[in-house]
Amino acid sequence: MITKIEFLDKDKPNKEVLKKAGEVIYAGGLVAFPTETVYGLGANALDGEAVKKIFIAKGRPQDNPLIVHVADYNIDYLVKEIPPIAKKLMEKFWPGPLTLIMKKSSEVSEVTSAGLDTIGIRMPLNPVANILIKEAKVPIAAPSANISGRPSPTDIERCIEDLKGKIEYIIGGEKCGVGLESTIVDCTIEPPCVLRPGGVTLEMLREIDDRIYIDPAIMKKPEKDFKPKAPGMKYRHYAPKAPVKIISGDLKKSVAKINEIVQNYIDVDKKVGIMATDETKNQYSNAVIKSLGSRNDLYSVGKNLFEVLREFDDEKVDVILSEAFEEKGMGVAIMNRLKKSAGFDIVES
Ligand code: TXA
Ligand code: MG
Repeated sequence: MITKIEFLDKDKPNKEVLKKAGEVIYAGGLVAFPTETVYGLGANALDGEAVKKIFIAKGRPQDNPLIVHVADYNIDYLVKEIPPIAKKLMEKFWPGPLTLIMKKSSEVSEVTSAGLDTIGIRMPLNPVANILIKEAKVPIAAPSANISGRPSPTDIERCIEDLKGKIEYIIGGEKCGVGLESTIVDCTIEPPCVLRPGGVTLEMLREIDDRIYIDPAIMKKPEKDFKPKAPGMKYRHYAPKAPVKIISGDLKKSVAKINEIVQNYIDVDKKVGIMATDETKNQYSNAVIKSLGSRNDLYSVGKNLFEVLREFDDEKVDVILSEAFEEKGMGVAIMNRLKKSAGFDIVES
């Protein structure tokens, strides 16, 4: 298949392109598009045949449901009911990086929900995504626009790398602002539960309802018969080709430990990548050193994380050593993705 690639200016996007891309979605095709979290791979959420193509293009397991993206608050036709807490969260955080799980209506294809009776819905902030949804005239089911298992793409080049030749359209241009996938809150249970941490932090959610909590299963090493509430959280995920190890504990000790591990790898001729921060990057040597950003600005770390993981693949390192972050605020989402990309391989310093 020939993939059309169109670069768009987020603040002044070419309406003609978005109209054509919308028509492709409406007609059952696939379009990769930017959102404020990561790039999405979209299809008509109401059309099971169209949505099946997403699973094929990504190589995604069939039991992993997709998020439905909307451009206006009238979502009554997609759900059985809107719980009062969901209404409050929508009003506060939409458009933005927050997905709400509700009971689905029969309008939404079973393929989109992977057979579940619930559906995740979110309203993206990026104007390109918004106009695309409006032009498509249907809600858009979209997972992250990567080959299943790889880190989610946060710029158009990474979408092209993964999906060129497999889908009709790739549109976008600018880097995603958040860089990590949306926060998911299950609003079908009391109290509501965070199934995946993201740019809307637990602290922010608790300002609306202080009973909201994070599914404890997602931050620790999965047990054998582990069944997270978000099916996708059980897969090895966000993973570059090289194995990732997280070095946790006091930062000074971590730096020393990382230098020690680097030496061990060098001794056996291995190429090491280090995920450092602005505060520590000058304290390492003999490795490919990349800073994720400043520890004083965890949003910058989140924004760069997936891109840095992919850059280490390009550099063909044999192993990636990462510093850890405090699990507070945005640090929860960062550590969730890091732990999953490392397959929970954590070394205490
Ligand atoms: O930021 C995002 O959410 C991005 C952009 C494109 O919007 N999308 C995204 O989709 O991250 P994906 O497919 O990579 O991740 C969706 C996650 C999976 O872990 C899936 O299991 C969970 O959401 N999920 C979707 N529907 C669900 C449901 N009904 N119940 C529980 N978990 C659900
Ligand atoms: Mg994904």
